[in-house]
Amino acid sequence: MVELLKGIETRRSFRAFISTPVPKEIIGRILKVASRSPSYKNTQPWEVVVVSGKKKEELGRILCELAKSDVTPNPDFPLPETWPTELERRAKEHGAKRFKILGIKREDKQKRKELSLSNFEFYGAPCVLFLFMDSTLSSWSILDMGLFIQSIILAARSFGLGSCPQASLAHYPDAVRKFFGIPKTKQLVLGISIGYPDLEARINAYRSERISLDDFVQWYI
Ligand SMILES: Cc1cc2nc3c(=O)[nH]c(=O)nc-3n(C[C@H](O)[C@H](O)[C@H](O)COP(=O)(O)O)c2cc1C
Repeated sequence: MVELLKGIETRRSFRAFISTPVPKEIIGRILKVASRSPSYKNTQPWEVVVVSGKKKEELGRILCELAKSDVTPNPDFPLPETWPTELERRAKEHGAKRFKILGIKREDKQKRKELSLSNFEFYGAPCVLFLFMDSTLSSWSILDMGLFIQSIILAARSFGLGSCPQASLAHYPDAVRKFFGIPKTKQLVLGISIGYPDLEARINAYRSERISLDDFVQWYI
């Protein structure tokens, strides 16, 4: 129980990895455990593509080119255009803190772009998971996907692995589908980069903030 709490509490997104490969057997164990996640009527909507090595590099180059040439992202799940004020403040603070820890100035557009592009290099992770679900499913199934994703991330932690869930890896779903020969009837939900975290990397020293309980809970007990 203590371990479970500790795992949840210390989970974080890693954005730099060492090149040590992740054995296929470990990814298999992580996915098997994560498949115990709850889902609406036990429908288990998740479909996963695991990629590493040359194939991963190739896909990374394709996605990087698209992002570099400023092709407008066309995700299967539209990106939010606006946020409620307080949520927008948190998002901006998150961005600013990451730039600060890397010594990137606000006005340095080039460096900011480079940081954003490193998403498409999977932050150097040796293994990437692409998560799909059938396009006929409703937003309820997205909840199932979210639970599955958190289980993957936590299970990965217990093998000493770090990860980063990345909406950016779902920015160009047609390219990803074409690359893996996946039909348009499968929607790309998210990508997760997985590997052994580079604990020396400055970006991994960043720890995100949380609002306090009083800011999001009402008690009637
Ligand atoms: C749905 C979703 C999409 C995300 N997309 C990205 C992304 O594209 N790139 C990235 O670096 N981090 C991404 N993240 C990680 C968040 O930035 C991170 O979870 C948040 O800042 C809190 O930090 P923590 O995970 O270290 O606690 C995403 C997280 C979620 C849940």
